[in-house]
Amino acid sequence: MLYCGFNFLFCVVAILCINLLCAEIFHKNKCVETERRALLKFKDALILGRNDLTSWKGEECCKWEGISCDNLTGHVTILDLHALDYTKGLQGKLDSSICELQHLTSLNLDNNRIEGKIPKCIGSLGKLIELNLIGNKLVSVIPPSLGNLSNLQTLDLGFNDLTANDLEWISHLSNLRYLGLSNVNLTLAVDWLSSISKIPSLSNLYLFEYLDLSYNEFQSSILKSFRNMSQLQELQLNYNKLSSKLSDNIQKLCSAENGLRKLDLSDNPFIRGPLPDFSCFSSLEALSLRNANVVGTFLKSTVHFPTLRSLDLSQNQLNFVEIIDHAYLPTIYSLDLSFNQLNGSQPLFEITKLASLKTLHLSHNHLSGSIPHTIGQLSSLAKLLLSSNKLSGVINETHLSNLSQLRILDVSQNSLSLNLSLKWVPPFKLERLYASSCTLGPKFPAWLKHQGELEILDISHNGISDSFPKWFWNLSLSLRYLNVSHNILKGTLPKSFTRTKGNYDYDHGWDVWDFSFNNMNGSLPAFPELGVLFLSKNMLTGSLSSFCTSSSQSLIQLDMSSNFLEGQLSDCWGKFKSLEVLNLAENNLSGKLPNSFGALRQIKSLHLNRNNFSGEIPSLILCHKLQLIDVGDNNLQGTLPMWIGHHLLQLSNLRMRANKFQGNIPTSLCNLSFLQVLDLSQNNIIGEIPQCFDRIVALSNLSFPRTTFQHMSFIHFVENEVYETGPFIDKEILAWKGSNSEYDKILGLVTIIDLSCNHLTGEIPQSITKLVALATLNLSRNNLTGIIPSKIGHMERTNDKHVTSEEDEDKLITFGFYVSLVLGFIIGFWGVCGTLVIKTSWRRAYFKFFNNMKDWIYVTLAVFVNRLKKRFQVED
Ligand SMILES: *[C@@H]1O[C@H](CO)[C@@H](O)[C@H](O)[C@H]1NC(C)=O
Ligand SMILES: *[C@@H]1O[C@H](CO)[C@@H](O)[C@H](O)[C@H]1NC(C)=O
Ligand SMILES: *[C@@H]1O[C@H](CO)[C@@H](O)[C@H](O)[C@H]1NC(C)=O
Ligand SMILES: *[C@@H]1O[C@H](CO)[C@@H](O)[C@H](O)[C@H]1NC(C)=O
Ligand SMILES: *[C@@H]1O[C@H](CO)[C@@H](O)[C@H](O)[C@H]1NC(C)=O
Ligand SMILES: *[C@@H]1O[C@H](CO)[C@@H](O)[C@H](O)[C@H]1NC(C)=O
Ligand SMILES: *[C@@H]1O[C@H](CO)[C@@H](O)[C@H](O)[C@H]1NC(C)=O
Ligand SMILES: *[C@@H]1O[C@H](CO)[C@@H](O)[C@H](O)[C@H]1NC(C)=O
Ligand SMILES: *[C@@H]1O[C@H](CO)[C@@H](O)[C@H](O)[C@H]1NC(C)=O
Ligand SMILES: *[C@@H]1O[C@H](CO)[C@@H](O)[C@H](O)[C@H]1NC(C)=O
Repeated sequence: MLYCGFNFLFCVVAILCINLLCAEIFHKNKCVETERRALLKFKDALILGRNDLTSWKGEECCKWEGISCDNLTGHVTILDLHALDYTKGLQGKLDSSICELQHLTSLNLDNNRIEGKIPKCIGSLGKLIELNLIGNKLVSVIPPSLGNLSNLQTLDLGFNDLTANDLEWISHLSNLRYLGLSNVNLTLAVDWLSSISKIPSLSNLYLFEYLDLSYNEFQSSILKSFRNMSQLQELQLNYNKLSSKLSDNIQKLCSAENGLRKLDLSDNPFIRGPLPDFSCFSSLEALSLRNANVVGTFLKSTVHFPTLRSLDLSQNQLNFVEIIDHAYLPTIYSLDLSFNQLNGSQPLFEITKLASLKTLHLSHNHLSGSIPHTIGQLSSLAKLLLSSNKLSGVINETHLSNLSQLRILDVSQNSLSLNLSLKWVPPFKLERLYASSCTLGPKFPAWLKHQGELEILDISHNGISDSFPKWFWNLSLSLRYLNVSHNILKGTLPKSFTRTKGNYDYDHGWDVWDFSFNNMNGSLPAFPELGVLFLSKNMLTGSLSSFCTSSSQSLIQLDMSSNFLEGQLSDCWGKFKSLEVLNLAENNLSGKLPNSFGALRQIKSLHLNRNNFSGEIPSLILCHKLQLIDVGDNNLQGTLPMWIGHHLLQLSNLRMRANKFQGNIPTSLCNLSFLQVLDLSQNNIIGEIPQCFDRIVALSNLSFPRTTFQHMSFIHFVENEVYETGPFIDKEILAWKGSNSEYDKILGLVTIIDLSCNHLTGEIPQSITKLVALATLNLSRNNLTGIIPSKIGHMERTNDKHVTSEEDEDKLITFGFYVSLVLGFIIGFWGVCGTLVIKTSWRRAYFKFFNNMKDWIYVTLAVFVNRLKKRFQVED
């Protein structure tokens, strides 16, 4: 699978070849009519989208998508409708008509969204060799009739909502080798393994090669049951309730019989203790003890892994590294010690003794000092991840000149400087470079010129004070993630970006380019296909009209705020069908707002403040998803639109301050349950303050869930690693506690009504006192009369109990609030090639994750998600 990642093209070619081959072999099939009808019935029970099973029509059912027939008899033998993309998977029920396909040898519905029960009659499909229903939404009890499938070799029912009351039937499956019961509720059947294994004559367990019991509640006592399974090669017990000392667990599992090659005990946080001796496993190749409370020293002389190739000890409490002899880990090529307590300079120095390493992951420790030159001895190193430590000093050619295999380098979030001469030609071709918050500057790093295979480049926060070299624009065309923000880059962008076919082979709709916080000047070019474009805080000039007509329609987030853009907006915005965030604030834009803003049906956040826009606000009644509208500090006029309160029911922030709006405050605003910030100050508004503000639940109920202004975050994958580019967080400058400050992460907690500097008359309504969640109320400089309601001082938020310090709140939010993030994903190599690999644990985790995260994810990708789960606080 490693090679798959690196040879993307090879994988594609392989898939194509397989497809062509299949087409050729099965070309001559004739379909059996009863089976054809059964298939149509099966199809009818599904809810189909436009692109689903469109080939399922006509007589020749053997040629339908996902179907293979016996080339002599014409019987359907294979039904394979596994989905690459869970969100696009088939929905609906699994109809019992499937049982009429009596010649099926393989039924694979992997990774769809099929609901309902597993039909009992599946037990009658006696020829089945493979039954794969993993990653659907099947419910209820697994029918014991599956015990009749005597030819079954592979059975995977994981990641549904299935329960097993009894698993005695498994013992009848004498050919079963591969069993996946991940996340099946085995509470009532928890003793099955030990009870069956006591009766060897009854049991096929000894023949299992693969057993996935992850995401269950097994305790350490289960481990003994695996000892006699001499054929068992891979055992997944991650996410269970194993407890006691690690050494006791290993002892229970270990026996001379054991031929285990892969063992996953990760995410069993009740395990604890130092690394014990593993030499009793004579052939262990991959071991994961991630998040299992492993403490102490990594690799004392008593610990011996004679055959280990991959070792994951991340998220533990290891605090010391001592590699006495490479002979204790003679074959290791992948070592993950990230998220531990390693400190000082010694661990890295020690680890460079493991000369066979290809992958080294030490991010998120407390490593300090400089990177030893002995790193150059790891000449096979392909992936080196050192981010978020306290490393300092210089990385120069001496470190890197031996590392000809290097593809992925992450040195971000340290205090490292990369001092590489302008003439240096690296021996490697990087695919991903993460070097945020290093010192690559002040000159633009010239050695990148030779890195034509880069897809991800993050050199943000690097003090680069230079203009972009010309070759960089050619390089940029193949980048899927480019972040050069927070430097001092100057000069102009090229006139246009033209991608030739050779630049890339995949869909670029999700590409992210971030040029923000630099000194770029000149006008806007025609950008290539991008999902995210950030250009804010530069000195860009000129008009937006050619940008709008020439740019790709795939944009999801566009931030051009704080530049010197000018002129009118042309009426071409309707093309951005996916746009969720549009920020044009703080420019010199003028003229009418285009009507085509009203066609931005996905828009959630619209910042147009601090420009010179005039005229009325166009109708946005179809923009139901809007959470934030800021048109403040312009020259807009007309009455305050009634439709806001009738159609934009998600609206949380409405800022129309400092314009020329007139007329009354529409009472329809009181329909907006989520409204937290209403700023109508400095307009020509007349009439009385509506009595009904107490109907705004977000202001009258302290425990009402706050809107989070975090938009889609972009995540990409480096093999098992998940990199998050961070969500786009809306910023607003708000008057709060008497001063203007910028709010981003805590914006969702701010509650303000500001109606100051208008011509409001009448009395302050009593109902204002019910707005207990309101923190700031500004009614000054109007013509209000009467008395100030006596209870107004009791509005609870006016004491600011809830917002103590910005820093505290930021912490709070970044943790808990991630749950409600909408995640976006960049489709990576592993998405395509990962699906060729069936038996890996991270794939399981991915289904689980998506089942949990429901449907708000736009993804096609497999994720090693345990870390994400933790990060996003998703419950099991
Ligand atoms: C039928 O398929 C098998 C392989 O599955 C192949 O060996 C055989 O030649 C095919 N027969 C015909 C008639 O195509
Ligand atoms: C499974 O086999 C049992 C006998 O062993 C039989 O009674 C039952 O009907 C069969 N179930 C199915 C679904 O074929
Ligand atoms: C598992 O099943 C048992 C018994 O049916 C039930 O009490 C328990 O809540 C289930 N567990 C989960 C996580 O659904
Ligand atoms: C494992 O096999 C041995 C004999 O080979 C037997 O004595 C022992 O009871 C078995 N253990 C289990 C847990 O089945
Ligand atoms: C590393 O941490 C240990 C305590 O865990 C401390 O005693 C030691 O001084 C630290 N070493 C360095 C170099 O910071
Ligand atoms: C480079 O690798 C060779 C062996 O491949 C080794 O002898 C040499 O010491 C390495 N250089 C550095 C700087 O580590
Ligand atoms: C790299 O830096 C070290 C000091 O940290 C120095 O000894 C070595 O000569 C430098 N190598 C190059 C190629 O500049
Ligand atoms: C960078 O390297 C050059 C020559 O290799 C050296 O003169 C210069 O001092 C180094 N700069 C830093 C910051 O280490
Ligand atoms: C960029 O690519 C084009 C087309 O391949 C080529 O003609 C041009 O010379 C390249 N420019 C630079 C600066 O490398
Ligand atoms: C306030 O009301 C008074 C009379 O009631 C009127 O003369 C004055 O112009 C009003 N001021 C404003 C700012 O509307």
